[in-house]
Amino acid sequence: MRLMVRLATPLQILTTLLLYAELSLIYGVAATPPALLVQWLWGARAAWPGWLQLPGLLVGCFAACFVFLLCLCLTVGIFRLITCAGTPVGRFSYYSLTAFQWASFNALILAVRFSVMNFMRVTPLQVFFYRLMGMRCGARVQINTGIIGDANLITIGDDSMIGGDVTLICHSAEAGELITAPVTIGSRVSVGLNAVILPGCEIGDGATIAAGALLPKGTKVPPGTLWAGVPARQLRGPRGPAVAASADGAD
Ligand SMILES: CC(C)(COP(=O)(O)OP(=O)(O)OC[C@H]1O[C@@H](n2cnc3c(N)ncnc32)[C@H](O)[C@@H]1OP(=O)(O)O)[C@@H](O)C(=O)NCCC(=O)NCCS
Repeated sequence: MRLMVRLATPLQILTTLLLYAELSLIYGVAATPPALLVQWLWGARAAWPGWLQLPGLLVGCFAACFVFLLCLCLTVGIFRLITCAGTPVGRFSYYSLTAFQWASFNALILAVRFSVMNFMRVTPLQVFFYRLMGMRCGARVQINTGIIGDANLITIGDDSMIGGDVTLICHSAEAGELITAPVTIGSRVSVGLNAVILPGCEIGDGATIAAGALLPKGTKVPPGTLWAGVPARQLRGPRGPAVAASADGAD
């Protein structure tokens, strides 16, 4: 282990370079169809009326950006299926092959998050992408955030809504270890703007998580309840009347 710690920085540089190579391959493959589209438009423009050539080319270039978005999601999804990538469940050292597996899987998600994700928010395409990355996602789920990691450990039930810029992750880096646990969100759940849901949380059907709430690791939210605050406490019981604020709901 001491040797691993000594080699940590060189290994991190090496894995970073490997990830850059992997991402170059993915971006290159995904950019090929839109580049062909632009190349075709460039050749075809000579036949268009003069006034149409510049706007026509510009519209075509922006359309090519959206073709890139689609191709990137598919390429990343296919890459994940080929490599069987996913976040493993458990506790591991930062300096382990399992941690590398975790990092390379999340790099695939980040490849989409840091390029095209904002154009996919609250669209079925975003749900399609997360399903490709292993998320179990019910019908009519709406997701308005790209701050989602470890998608293969997340379950979201039918008709649930994940609000703007919610953080949904299944890992926690603590004292040299990476700890991962699944997150389960039931059906008809609303998660408010900027809420943070940490590993191991379970949110029951019909529950509401208020804007800005922080659900600590392993919190169990009973069905139909309202939780708010940092850290989140139960504000209301299943049928409306306030209950004593308590962290014990997180048993
Ligand atoms: C939590 C929420 C559902 C409560 O709405 P509500 O049922 O109308 O309740 P109220 O506004 O009457 O507030 C009830 C209590 O909760 C408190 N409260 C409301 N929102 C809160 C929040 N985000 N964090 C902490 N406390 C909150 C209020 O101060 C009030 O406390 P009090 O009874 O001591 O005065 C709502 O405030 C909220 O956060 N909704 C999320 C909306 C969202 O982000 N949607 C996704 C993006 S569009």
